Amino acid sequence: YAPGLLSGLHLTITAGPTREAIDPVRFISNHSSGKMGYALAAEAVQAGARVTLISGPVNLPVPDRVHCIAVTTAQEMLEASLESTEHSDVFIGVAAVADYRVSDASDHKIKKSAETLQLTLVRNPDIIGTLAQKSAAKSPQRPLIVGFAAETQHIEQYGREKLQRKNLDLLFANDATATFNSDDICATALWDEDGSQTLGPANKNLVARQMLALIAERIRARQTD
Ligand code: C5P
Repeated sequence: YAPGLLSGLHLTITAGPTREAIDPVRFISNHSSGKMGYALAAEAVQAGARVTLISGPVNLPVPDRVHCIAVTTAQEMLEASLESTEHSDVFIGVAAVADYRVSDASDHKIKKSAETLQLTLVRNPDIIGTLAQKSAAKSPQRPLIVGFAAETQHIEQYGREKLQRKNLDLLFANDATATFNSDDICATALWDEDGSQTLGPANKNLVARQMLALIAERIRARQTD
């Protein structure tokens, strides 16, 4: 494993869930633990990168020498990501961003009275999609944009569709049921029209190193294009 693999590069990584308020004491979120994003951040520093970690609420210590920006909502994560990728070579979207937020969160605690309660949800911005749309793929100003896809079926097919639809440079597709909150991961890396490689099943730190090696390879491939 090359300690200088990513030296001179700035990586921005999103991690964890986002939390969308229903009222001051309740929220909508998901089971993302943040482990994969934090493992990537820690391993990237080991490989010589400068790392900005934009993290939703998780119960993990910030790895040594990682600059962490704590956020709560998808909107906050988007703003921090836009700002940080202005000067990044790589953006890795590992966060499990809530797809919807409550359209009109209450300023006060909602009292229980009626038998049913309806919440109206509105779509959250797609953070990685927004970043990928800002500049054409392979343009030199654009960071290498790396996504994750947690699927429960047709993992490779859905993954490849997502890679193309979101205009990403590299995507790690994995089985959501086996990955969330687990210390291990098995993923399929997908890039270009037909590039693919299976990673794991193994500990998230070990797989993170394999992922970073593939990221370094994609950066090199882009430079020689
Ligand atoms: O579309 P889907 O949520 O499956 O895509 C997953 C990928 O998109 C991940 O890289 C995730 O971090 C990113 N994403 C995002 N903003 C969203 C939803 C997903 O950046 N609102």
